[in-house]
Amino acid sequence: MWLKCISCGKEYPPEAKIYTCPSCNSLLDVVLDYAEVSNNVSWSLFKARAFKVWRYREFLPIEKDECIVSLGEGGTPLYRCDKLAKWVGIKDLYVKYEGANPTGSFKDRGMTVGVSKALEFKAKIVACASTGNTSASLSAYAAKAGLKCLVLLPAGKVALGKLAQALMHGAEVVAIKGNFDDALKLVIKLSMERDVYLLNSVNPWRLEGQKTLAYEVVDQLGFVPEYVAVPMGNCGNISAIYKGFKELSITGLADATPKMIGVQAEGAAPVVEMLEKGLNTLRPIEKPETLATAIRIGNPINWPKAINAIRESKGIAIKVSDAEIIEAQKAIARLEGLGVEPASAASVAGLKKLVEHDKIPRDAQVVAVCTGHLLKDPEEVVEVSEKFKEIEASMDELEKIVSAKL
Ligand code: F0G
Repeated sequence: MWLKCISCGKEYPPEAKIYTCPSCNSLLDVVLDYAEVSNNVSWSLFKARAFKVWRYREFLPIEKDECIVSLGEGGTPLYRCDKLAKWVGIKDLYVKYEGANPTGSFKDRGMTVGVSKALEFKAKIVACASTGNTSASLSAYAAKAGLKCLVLLPAGKVALGKLAQALMHGAEVVAIKGNFDDALKLVIKLSMERDVYLLNSVNPWRLEGQKTLAYEVVDQLGFVPEYVAVPMGNCGNISAIYKGFKELSITGLADATPKMIGVQAEGAAPVVEMLEKGLNTLRPIEKPETLATAIRIGNPINWPKAINAIRESKGIAIKVSDAEIIEAQKAIARLEGLGVEPASAASVAGLKKLVEHDKIPRDAQVVAVCTGHLLKDPEEVVEVSEKFKEIEASMDELEKIVSAKL
C-alpha cells in the first residue's frame, strides 16, 4: 500500500502524513497491491461477515486493528423503486439509501477509515471545513475516538440538523463569514501549520472508506449496474465510488464497471461546465448558490478525480435546477417512502433530465445514490411543502377538511 500522485505519478510511503503531492501539489490516491488483494478476497469471504463497511477489510488501508473507530456504518439498504423508475422514465431504478448511516449520510463510510487513520498517525485534533454533513460525521467519530474536533462552517448556510449534530457531539464549531470554499482554504492552511489532522475529502485515506458503497451495490444486486448517479459537491464521493467499482474489476470480483453520472446544482456546477465546454481546467464559481446547501461548492477540490471518473467510465455530468431538485425530493418521498435531503435528490433529478434528453436509454439499469437523510434539513422541508391547517379541536371543523380533502 502506498500513496501516488494522480498528476506526476510520484509515490510516497503510507507513513507520510501528507494530503497532496509535496512535489506538484496535485491530489493523491491510495494504491493497494492488487495482486496480493486478489489472492485474499472473494464474495464468499465477504458474505460470511456482517454487512457493514468493514466486511471489505482487505480493501481498507488500516494496518492496526486496535485503531479502528466504528459506529457500525455502511450496509445501507438498496431499494428497488418501480414507481420512481416510472416517474424518471426508466425500467430498473435502485436507490442506495445513505441516510441509513449512523449520522445520516455517506460521510460515515469515509470517517470510519479517516478517523482510524488519524489514530494511527497519533493525532490529537481532527478538523474539517463542511457544508454540514462532514462536520456532523467527523464530530461523532471524533467523540467516539476521544479526539478534539474543530469544524469550520459557512455562516448561515448549514442545515439545522447537521449543525445540531456537530454541536451535540461536542465539536468546536466555528462559522466563517464566507462560503465553503473559503472555509476549506483556511482549514487546509491550518493543517499545514499546526498539528491538526485534516479530514476533508482531499485526504485520500478518507475516500478509501467511501469506495465501499460500490462493493455493497454489487454485493446487493449480484451484478454491476449500467449507470450509477451521484450528486457532486467537493467531488470526492463520485471519485471514491468509481474507484471501488474499478477495484472489484481489477481483483476479479466483477466483470464490468458502470458509467458514472455526476449531478450538480445549476448555481454550483463548475464540473458540468468544464465537461460541456471541453475545458482543460476548472473555472471556479465565485458565488455558488443553491437550496441544496450540501453541494453549494464553487471550487471542488477533487475535480480532477471526478472528471477522470466520468470521462474514463464514459459517463455524463448534468446540472439541475433547485425546482427540479425539490420535485425529485418529493417524488422519492411520496412514491417510495424514502426521506432524503435536497442534495441527495439531485441524483434522481439528474436522471430524469437525462432520460428526457435521450442521454440514457429507457431500458437502463440504474442506481441512484441518495446521500443524506431528510431530517438533515427540516427547514427546507417546511419551506417547500404544502402549508398545513390549524383548526379548533372540533369535530365539525375536522369533518370539513376530511370531506374536502380525502
Ligand atoms: N450529498 C450530500 C448530502 C453531501 O453532504 C455532499 C457533500 C455531497 C452529496 C457531495 O459529495 O462533496 O463528495 O462530492 N458534503 C460535504 C460536506 C461537502 O461538507 O458535508 P462530495
